[in-house]
Amino acid sequence: MTTSPRKILVTSALPYANGSIHLGHLVEYIQTDIWVRFQKLRGHECYYVCADDAHGTPIMLRAQHEGIRPEELIARVHQEHQSDFAGFAINFDNYYSTHSPENQYFANHIYNELKAGGHIITRTIRQAYDPVKEMFLPDRFIRGECPRCGAKDQYGDNCEACGATYAPTDLKNPVSAISGATPIEKESEHYFVNLQDFEPMLKEWTTSEALQPEVAHKLNEWFEAGLQAWDITRDAPYFGFEINDAPGKYFYVWLDAPIGYIASFRNLCNKKGLDFNSFWHEGSQTELYHFIGKDIMYFHTLFWPAMLTGGHFRKPTAVFVHGFLTVDGQKMSKSRGTFINARTYLNHLNPEYLRYYFAAKLNNKVDDVDLNLDDFLHRVNADLVGKVVNIASRCAGFITKRFNGLLADKLHDPALFDQFIAEGKIIETAYEARDYNKAVRDIMALADRANQYIDEFKPWVIAKDVSKADELQAVCSQGLNLFYVLMSYLAPILPVMAEKVEKFLVAPLNFEIKPLLNHEIKQFEPLMQRVDQKQIDAMLAASQENLTKTALPTAKPVASPKNSPIAETIAIEDFVKIDLRIAKIINAEHVEGAEKLLRLTLDIGEEKHRTVFAGIKDAYAPETLIGRMTVMVANLAPRQMRFGLSEGMVLAAGPGKKDLWILSPDTGAQPGMRVK
Ligand code: MSP
Ligand code: ZN
Repeated sequence: MTTSPRKILVTSALPYANGSIHLGHLVEYIQTDIWVRFQKLRGHECYYVCADDAHGTPIMLRAQHEGIRPEELIARVHQEHQSDFAGFAINFDNYYSTHSPENQYFANHIYNELKAGGHIITRTIRQAYDPVKEMFLPDRFIRGECPRCGAKDQYGDNCEACGATYAPTDLKNPVSAISGATPIEKESEHYFVNLQDFEPMLKEWTTSEALQPEVAHKLNEWFEAGLQAWDITRDAPYFGFEINDAPGKYFYVWLDAPIGYIASFRNLCNKKGLDFNSFWHEGSQTELYHFIGKDIMYFHTLFWPAMLTGGHFRKPTAVFVHGFLTVDGQKMSKSRGTFINARTYLNHLNPEYLRYYFAAKLNNKVDDVDLNLDDFLHRVNADLVGKVVNIASRCAGFITKRFNGLLADKLHDPALFDQFIAEGKIIETAYEARDYNKAVRDIMALADRANQYIDEFKPWVIAKDVSKADELQAVCSQGLNLFYVLMSYLAPILPVMAEKVEKFLVAPLNFEIKPLLNHEIKQFEPLMQRVDQKQIDAMLAASQENLTKTALPTAKPVASPKNSPIAETIAIEDFVKIDLRIAKIINAEHVEGAEKLLRLTLDIGEEKHRTVFAGIKDAYAPETLIGRMTVMVANLAPRQMRFGLSEGMVLAAGPGKKDLWILSPDTGAQPGMRVK
């Protein structure tokens, strides 16, 4: 290394602690990991930190739904996330949580500094409130009819049917997605960061080298629209950090989430004895980069630099924004099986296929990245197996068998080797600029050259002539040296294969390559299998199955009796549409992870195995239900729930909880009878 090593701190966005890592996330973690590995391989001092984003309403509700404390939920997800990331060889120096003492300290510290600087203002706002659940409702927890097209069951701020955007207060017949109750409006005092105080700083920062042109452009649009004060508090109940001087008020999850970058690094410093200040203090000369997706730009390019400035920390050197993943040209879709979880992928395919494929697709733009599964299969097989591994497999056997693993003492074609080394500078520049697509193209062009070389000298032909032993050794050694250079260049993308190659060649892979001469190598072991279409099909099929397990239920429970008057009247024609049948409960069992539900198997005469999920667990132990009769709505459209498909609804009478009755056993009802 001629220049002195750089000091670089790198982050990826912190994934929410209430969901699984999926291939969309992996675009980012793979992109970042490649960059960090590249910097480390060049000898720079580089740290990669991340954490789970553990706070907020959805996490609180998810925990309640599972009947566990949020701390238990985030601990479990933390384990899952870490093992998923490890599966893809994402090599964090620290993977922490925003629910940590360090983060609480820095969140309060930054808040106090903002306050001392006069940047915090208070305002009373009116907000939707769930009177049953006694909590304020974030927009996404309000559902109702679209004010424009009337589509039912739309989210609080936009309509999936017609694309309209609106305020949650515009929804017709709104309901809380949590309790089903009609939200009321309620006032509360919130704290805001006065973003406008930071406008001159932000405008200057935008014109520095910190942002991609597309991102700077977007920022200018935001400046033109006018910067709004940022609401940083939420009222109890909330899972987060309670504000010291404001009991009952919590920091909004997005306040402490990016502070999690600082906290995770602080935690790493504690473990490793690193100098925290040289990375975070105002005026620090080290480099700081955040990799993020395009959906969270506002937080990272406006709020975050403002918080850092107000808190007297340094600003990021740059924020690197990537686009979103599409699969076969479309948004990932659960019904098509293209919403693929990291774990599902790992159950079927080698993680390095995906690392390679994403690298081959990624550049430094904000464009979306498409995973085309046919292209994926062909590219991995053609490039990695067909080109790269092929070089080694065509040369290694001869070196092992004929020369006891010893490489020749000089290169057969030094000029060709030098060309490979010279190309390294260009490839390094491409990596540094996150133009992995170019790096991969250049590397594959070299792989083509290496294969041409082998085709030209045909070791398998020379091998037949015993008098040409020296030439055989020279040609195969040249081939393996070219392979060595290629694998060094690919090491940031394919760390697992690179490690195998280091063992095989008994040499380190990095960006300071010397030819391996008069050097003993180990026996060649297969480095990578071809992708098989069957594996891809199996992964897609498994992703479709997963649907039932991972989707959160769209909560549409019946309004609780205490606050619902007799419902709107319906016409007799509406009533006769309902096909009510007597059903015999032939099985009833607990549903793992569900607080109230039982899974019932019903015999309704012509059908013997209807599955229905019923919220009657408080009233009946499952074993007491087996053999009893009940009335069911047999023609209710099946509904996908988190636990499986529910094919109908069971009727029971009573106000709820323990007081709920189904038919008594001795009514004489028979399965399949219509109820009149
Ligand atoms: N918790 C916030 C980030 C806080 S950072 C202080 C968050 N979490 S996330 O789990 O939704 O997303 C984590 C990262 O993955 C984000 O950068 C996001 O853009 C990225 N991606 C999530 N889904 C993605 C795709 N489908 N495609 C590409 N990137 C995606 O946002
Ligand atoms: Zn609409």
